Amino acid sequence: MSKTKEFDNLQHLNELKEKAKLGGGEKRIEDQHKKGKLTARERLEVLLDRNSFEEIDLLVEHRSHDFGLEKQKYLGDGVVTGTGTIDGRLVFVFSQDFTVFGGSLSEAHAEKICKIMDMAMKVGAPVIGLNDSGGARIQEGVVSLGGYADIFLRNTLASGVIPQISAIMGPCAGGAVYSPAITDFTFMVKNTSYMFVTGPNVVKTVTHEDVTSEELGGAITHATKSGVAHLACENEIECLQAVRKLMSFIPPNNLDDPPVVQTKDDPNRKDDKLNSIVPENPNKPYDMKEVIHLIVDDNDFFEVHDLYAQNIIVGFARLGGKSVGIIANQPSVLAGVLDIDSSVKGARFVRFCDAFNIPLIVFEDVPGFLPGTDQEWRGIIKNGAKLLYAFCEATVPKITVITRKAYGGAYDVMNSKHVRGDFNFGWPSAEIAVMGPKGAVEIIFKKEIEKAVDKEKALNEQVEEYRRKFANPYIAAGRGYLDDIIEPRETRPRLIRALQILENKVDSNPKKKHGNIPL
Ligand code: HXC
Repeated sequence: MSKTKEFDNLQHLNELKEKAKLGGGEKRIEDQHKKGKLTARERLEVLLDRNSFEEIDLLVEHRSHDFGLEKQKYLGDGVVTGTGTIDGRLVFVFSQDFTVFGGSLSEAHAEKICKIMDMAMKVGAPVIGLNDSGGARIQEGVVSLGGYADIFLRNTLASGVIPQISAIMGPCAGGAVYSPAITDFTFMVKNTSYMFVTGPNVVKTVTHEDVTSEELGGAITHATKSGVAHLACENEIECLQAVRKLMSFIPPNNLDDPPVVQTKDDPNRKDDKLNSIVPENPNKPYDMKEVIHLIVDDNDFFEVHDLYAQNIIVGFARLGGKSVGIIANQPSVLAGVLDIDSSVKGARFVRFCDAFNIPLIVFEDVPGFLPGTDQEWRGIIKNGAKLLYAFCEATVPKITVITRKAYGGAYDVMNSKHVRGDFNFGWPSAEIAVMGPKGAVEIIFKKEIEKAVDKEKALNEQVEEYRRKFANPYIAAGRGYLDDIIEPRETRPRLIRALQILENKVDSNPKKKHGNIPL
């Protein structure tokens, strides 16, 4: 090849690449920035390690000839796909480009996403999707619906094999919401990201409700009301950094272990504050998050779903450098009671951890399931059963610390010995019984109390007697339902040692196509 020809070839290639990088053009990029949003490529720069992005399919274009689309072609067709690293570990990424047809999903756009999903499954690496899309590309009709279905199928087949994370960075309308919904974690950005099956205009027509995009499907709505979002971040940078942080706790696939992060935090560290953290009055709340922070490595707890069903806490931390998933009742919200939302939140988290070899640590202080018609009619039975099912089927190392109440069915559910808890510890303040003292004596001593001259005195005496007998951890420990009663300040070293013992734990469930979790 002559030098001139070679030069022309290279120049052509470089021009194409430069053009592709401008997406829908400078004007639309400017509009994107004006909305406080980054472009698809800028987001990847924040998400991935510096210079680690390797792009695939930059030259792909749509093939549509309807509605004048043949005259509007953009290299890459509205989605930037490829690989990169986060803390040196391989991830596959797609980042939708709102400047090209509003990030809407065409046949070619869908094929690009499917291609990286297929590669990720073959090599066993996570997929991170940065979503910013007006949904199905309207001009392509059913072809784009097919494209969505191709993605949903892959999301489902990849579920539990590779971690799938969704960051919602703009509007996500119509089909655009269902792929994130199937993935493991969905993070949103306040004020600039939305998720809805149908937008405010359709809502107005069908239900006559006047609602803004933010109210209908903004980050706070989904983080507090629907539970669709696991985090509501202040801005895009914070959101992308949260995805990086999440990745630091999880393995690349279901056959690998989570990364180990060396820590200077002494595994034998004992914290005296823990000895006095549970109030003497059993009806007084305390903050279980403080317990968690005092125990885990470097006080570093990455909570997810923090604004939703706050009576249960879920998130990731490390103990002795190793990732753990923490599920804890929160006595300072609704006394830590289990209700529908907290059960579903806990169950989904337990199943994620179990799928990806992340040991489970349970901190338990639960007065039982929430009574009432609202809960019963909306199905606390089937929803509470989800959490029970999730703990029962989990085969990762499972450790429970009962800090105070473990009453009724909630005792069984919260990773009791009977559902294959490996190490179950109680603090001396633990109370383990069928129900709380007052409720119990009102039933079993109903007649005696009715007959008594001073009913209140009789009730109080029986409550005291019941409390002395049952509101403690010693009966459970005497039966081996607790492996040990430990001083609260020793909890960190005891958990770390238990995890070391369980490092090579092998357990399995009977062979089956799949279980039938009560949905
Ligand atoms: C093609 C689209 C598009 C779409 C937006 N655009 N959505 N092009 N198909 N679905 C284009 C616009 O024409 C415009 O092009 C550019 O993207 C930016 O859109 P704007 O409306 O100017 O932006 P904005 O005001 O920010 O509003 C964004 C939006 C709105 C909220 C996403 O565009 C919108 O409501 N779009 C339609 C959403 C929708 O109903 N999608 C179909 C869902 S049905 P120019 O050239 O001007 O830059 C669906 C079915 C799948 O997804 C079901 C599977 C289960």
